[in-house]
Amino acid sequence: MTPFLVAAFHLLLAGTSCQAALTELDAYSLQEFDKLVRQNLVFMVVDRVNGTISEQRQMQHDCASLVNHTADNCKSCESHTPTNHQVGNPLEQVIPIILEPTVSAGKFLEHVANTVASPESLKLLGKKATKLVNDIGSVAQNAGSSLLDGAKSAYYSSINGLKDFGNKLTSLTSDIGTSLKSAAGSLDHLFTDQIGGSLSNVGTGLVDGAKDVWGSISSGATDVANSISSGAKDVVNSIGSGISSIGHSIGHIFGRKRSACPDCDKINSQNGDEIVSNVCGSDFMTRHNAVLTEINHMRDIYSAAVNTTVIQKVEYDPTSIDVTHGVQFKVVYITYTINGQSRRYRPASPLRLTDLPTMAEGVSMEIYESYV
Ligand SMILES: *[C@@H]1O[C@H](CO)[C@@H](O)[C@H](O)[C@H]1NC(C)=O
Ligand SMILES: *[C@@H]1O[C@H](CO)[C@@H](O)[C@H](O)[C@H]1NC(C)=O
Ligand SMILES: *[C@@H]1O[C@H](CO)[C@@H](O)[C@H](O)[C@H]1NC(C)=O
Repeated sequence: MTPFLVAAFHLLLAGTSCQAALTELDAYSLQEFDKLVRQNLVFMVVDRVNGTISEQRQMQHDCASLVNHTADNCKSCESHTPTNHQVGNPLEQVIPIILEPTVSAGKFLEHVANTVASPESLKLLGKKATKLVNDIGSVAQNAGSSLLDGAKSAYYSSINGLKDFGNKLTSLTSDIGTSLKSAAGSLDHLFTDQIGGSLSNVGTGLVDGAKDVWGSISSGATDVANSISSGAKDVVNSIGSGISSIGHSIGHIFGRKRSACPDCDKINSQNGDEIVSNVCGSDFMTRHNAVLTEINHMRDIYSAAVNTTVIQKVEYDPTSIDVTHGVQFKVVYITYTINGQSRRYRPASPLRLTDLPTMAEGVSMEIYESYV
């Protein structure tokens, strides 16, 4: 063995002897903790999609204005320069590109709307499902108000559709709210995060009267789910087709020759990405691409949170006990899995067995940040 390998081997031994001192959190607390983290992740993702939409609105508006001004400058420059170029405004060509993040966020909202009343989601969220529908509605409204001045009418109407969809969702909430609330009255113990098994197991474990109540909730939920998802589909399809038809209607306005006007060179391309990059800058494109990646990651987190166990293991060192603020353990390791990728890390906050919700808040934030 080389000295390096010997050293590595000793480090490994030291590592294992260290880990031997760790204790695992009991199965019941682990399950509770996992559920709290997953609930937080669901709401966090929806909140961050909203933040992304708001951030993009300003960026999209600024970029569209820049393209517009560049086209105006080009036009006035060409009018002083002998040329036979036909100058047009490439705004409509670049709008489908500028809007990609909003459309991608819209598709993600569609997915959330489609799954919000699924058994997995209701089992995880219980009464909080109402808040989730309300939040998606508000985010869709936010996306729907991402209007760009001067954009084509097809664009206006499709993005307005997203707003209508948001309005519809927020008004639906009161329906779901009522059925969940009345159910919660008689089945309160089920909704207080105790729903451990599948929905059908819950049904069979109940007395007959309660079973009926549950049946009416879940069929109510199915109706709601169906109307949510059909609403979402119409909207997202119309956005997609509205935007691609805008994209195809343009793209033949310029000649290929270099002009004497720098602003014309920036917009003299058949390729919308190239125009956006020339006019709005490479930082814009970098952020644009990063947002598209982030939305995909948000989707992974959301699916994992709704469908699967995220927290696999919580280990702590019993000798790191600290009783200055209740009972807590300072040395703790969390192992979580998102989309098949597992990671073990040491969270910033200590393990407080008597206050898992607070710890879950910190941990869900850390998981979110390190995955997105
Ligand atoms: C683009 O410019 C035209 C006039 O040149 C104006 O009517 C329109 O509102 C502008 N659009 C944007 C997005 O700045
Ligand atoms: C989404 O953002 C809008 C605009 O900032 C805000 O009014 C709304 O409350 C937000 N909704 C959620 C669920 O965060
Ligand atoms: C959960 O998994 C099912 C089956 O793989 C899938 O159809 C569904 O979309 C997933 N739910 C979410 C919220 O991604």
